[in-house]
Amino acid sequence: MARAHASSVLSLEVFEMRDQNPSNITGPIKAELNYIKPDATVAPEVFYSGKSAPQKYNDAYAFMPAMIEDGRERRGDFRIHKQGFELVTTPTLIRDFEDTKTIEGEYYDEVRDIVRAVTGAKDVFVFDHTVRLGKANSRRKPAHHVHNDYSDATAQSRAEEMIGKEEFAKLKTRRMIQINLWRPLVDIVHRSPLAFCDASSIEPKDLLPAKIHFPDTDHIGEIYALRKQPQQRWYYFSEMTHDEVVLIKGYDSLTDGTARFTPHTAFEYPDQNTHVGPRKSIETRTFAFY
Ligand code: OGA
Ligand code: FE
Repeated sequence: MARAHASSVLSLEVFEMRDQNPSNITGPIKAELNYIKPDATVAPEVFYSGKSAPQKYNDAYAFMPAMIEDGRERRGDFRIHKQGFELVTTPTLIRDFEDTKTIEGEYYDEVRDIVRAVTGAKDVFVFDHTVRLGKANSRRKPAHHVHNDYSDATAQSRAEEMIGKEEFAKLKTRRMIQINLWRPLVDIVHRSPLAFCDASSIEPKDLLPAKIHFPDTDHIGEIYALRKQPQQRWYYFSEMTHDEVVLIKGYDSLTDGTARFTPHTAFEYPDQNTHVGPRKSIETRTFAFY
């Protein structure tokens, strides 16, 4: 197994035992993903309740089957500028992910360094994060709808809003990317993993702007939903650990065939052991310039 950095005979044995465990999932998984019906006639819309109630979706959405391949054995094949996502092993020094000050003060610095190293971008702005603790009364649960966090238009407007009009005007001539950095806050992800659609397997016409309505505010966001097509390829990384992150490309100003938008979603294993606790994670949002 590629990930077994066995430092002793004992840990080698543990990995061999795991390989023989019949409940250890390998090979493609058939899961239900919430994306846009090929024959949808209305524009997609998402409604966040802001409470523990589930999010609502209009009629454009439906759960439909998809095959999701485990990319772990070929992790080196998935590149941020080609497929739009990349798995990196990079332990964090942060211990308290419930403390916003620590996250914004210390974790953001780590994120900045990782994004710079992996993408080759020069200036990285870390501007937002979401901690998903999966608690019953929390609205921060895994997100079960195929989406790209921004549309072409909102990537630009969000960057301008975050960086400031004047500063952004100066940066505008440079190539800009948007990257999310997703890290498990459990030792090993045993439920609700994140799946990624290979950006090179989607056609721009299947990315549909979706209005997203937030509670207690007039602000309406815009993301991309994805119309299901047979050629789309899906991947996840089995048993992701707290020492690993996935970078997800949500925007690129380049239009030369580089990955621009990378739809992703949480999904459920068909044979989920229900005794396993909820998946916890943090995603951190960045804009970066070359
Ligand atoms: C993200 C995202 C969903 C989840 O990181 O952008 O959509 O369930 N995450 O963690
Ligand atoms: Fe997302």
